[in-house]
Amino acid sequence: MTRHLITSAIPYINGIKHLGNLVGSQLPADLYARYLRARGHEVLFLCATDEHGTPAELAAAKAGKPVEDYCAEMHEVQARIADGFGLSFDHFGRSSSIQNQRLTQHFAGALYNEGLIEEVEQRQIYSETDGRFLPDRYVEGTCPNCGFEDARGDQCDNCTKQLDPEDLINPRSTVSGATDLEMRATKHLFLKQSKMKDRLDDWINSKTDWPVLTTSIAKKWLHDGDGLQDRGITRDLSWGVPVKRGDEDWPGMEGKVFYVWFDAPIEYIACAQEWVDAGKGSDWERWWRTDKGADDVRYTQFMGKDNVPFHTLSFPATIMGSNEPWKLVDYIKSFNYLTYDGGQFSTSRGRGVFMDQALEILPADTWRWWLLSHAPETSDAEFTWENFQASVNKDLADVLGNFISRITKFCRSKFSEAVPEAGEYGPAEHALIADLSERVSRYQAAMEAMEVRKSAAELRAIWAAGNEYLQAEAPWTTFKTDPDKAAAQVRLALNLIPFYAVLSAPFIPDAAASMLSCVRVDQPIWPDDVPAALAQLAPGHAFDVPEVLFAKITDEQREEWAEKFAGVRT
Ligand code: 2FM
Ligand code: ZN
Repeated sequence: MTRHLITSAIPYINGIKHLGNLVGSQLPADLYARYLRARGHEVLFLCATDEHGTPAELAAAKAGKPVEDYCAEMHEVQARIADGFGLSFDHFGRSSSIQNQRLTQHFAGALYNEGLIEEVEQRQIYSETDGRFLPDRYVEGTCPNCGFEDARGDQCDNCTKQLDPEDLINPRSTVSGATDLEMRATKHLFLKQSKMKDRLDDWINSKTDWPVLTTSIAKKWLHDGDGLQDRGITRDLSWGVPVKRGDEDWPGMEGKVFYVWFDAPIEYIACAQEWVDAGKGSDWERWWRTDKGADDVRYTQFMGKDNVPFHTLSFPATIMGSNEPWKLVDYIKSFNYLTYDGGQFSTSRGRGVFMDQALEILPADTWRWWLLSHAPETSDAEFTWENFQASVNKDLADVLGNFISRITKFCRSKFSEAVPEAGEYGPAEHALIADLSERVSRYQAAMEAMEVRKSAAELRAIWAAGNEYLQAEAPWTTFKTDPDKAAAQVRLALNLIPFYAVLSAPFIPDAAASMLSCVRVDQPIWPDDVPAALAQLAPGHAFDVPEVLFAKITDEQREEWAEKFAGVRT
């Protein structure tokens, strides 16, 4: 069994994420982690909060709190919500941890020793009105590449081009809207990524199995325009990792911190140290150092497309450039955007559903199912309340929930609350078992390939096959003429409950747990052998008729929510 290291892009600390953020990284990463664990693999699934940078400073100022306190509180909030969604991280760390501080400083020292860091006398945008230097993302203006008017100083969200603030046409401060911006001299460190262009190019070219979305973005940044640019890795801020090389002070860099995008991905490694230091595991190096056993690890990263340049180029440049035996990512699964009802989710305008609100109105599994079954893989996807209502009501309530309720109630009324013993399986039962065996293989193949929508479609088809069997064989009719045959039909149908639970758990873990508890199965096993799995509940095995597994979404609820989440969140 391979060991799997899985990371999700680490969410910014400054606010609660919306469903679009969730489906682009944490949720599919969780799906994959749960699946691999269920198949018996050793998995280390890590995520954290991304706590540095100006956004955190400004959010803390707005909340009237010291930034350390603000981050500590928001970390707890995000951890609680992640838990509510069933995100099964082995550790949910913090990029502001001492482990990450040390490791970031270590990498800077290693890169410096390799001659890959340059001290650059730089002119930076200073806002007279705001009385401060403006970090890249606090300058907005028109993108020189595509003409988008709200491009940020670090990147254009429209065409994904990485930018420098002085590239912007008509720049303005996002702190105040001020346009009295001027360039002033200051010193910064640059990572000489351009020196690693060929190595990165060879590496990306060797990844022939990666999603096109990932490699196309990487190749664009390697080859478009002037190619891979050296990257400023320090900022004039007080909140962040202080600039040092290893344990040593860095002359001339006093009062500066590393750029948040330099320390954030290093947190993937530091998080494994935090996991050990929290007493949850041992030997983090065996996951991260190829000289300490990590050659056996398969490392998969999940992220939205806007994060791809940093993970395909900048972070690998840090790792490769250090010339130390760190594990490089093996596979990057990236996602397009989820849009909300004809427009964008907007954190600032509160448009769309945010993770905390989602859990207030419906169980996590409802969201998990819709989001994963509509994951924006090959193109952007759109959330509409109509589509959400239709697919939750149909897939979860009508197909899966109804199957379980119908068969358990029927068995209780005609036999007892135990698996019936009489009767033999006939052609229809054998055909269903054979059909399910094939479908399970297809489901596994899709899950292993991280084809999220396809996996959901295969799972839905597995649920539907059981429903169709029940519909066609109709034990309630059979019972009138041949009770023994009806007993055999019920026995097979009851056995589908733990079978469905195990297969569905990566998508809908809470419902899967309820299903297992209704059939009193504590130690679920993956159906490697489908006929054996479908004989798991022996005759006489007792069960309980469950409460309603999935309540239907009514038209009134749909209308109420559509109105509630269209608006402006304060
Ligand atoms: O886009 C984001 O939410 C970033 N905070 C992701 C950082 S991922 C990584 F580099 F750690
Ligand atoms: Zn652009």
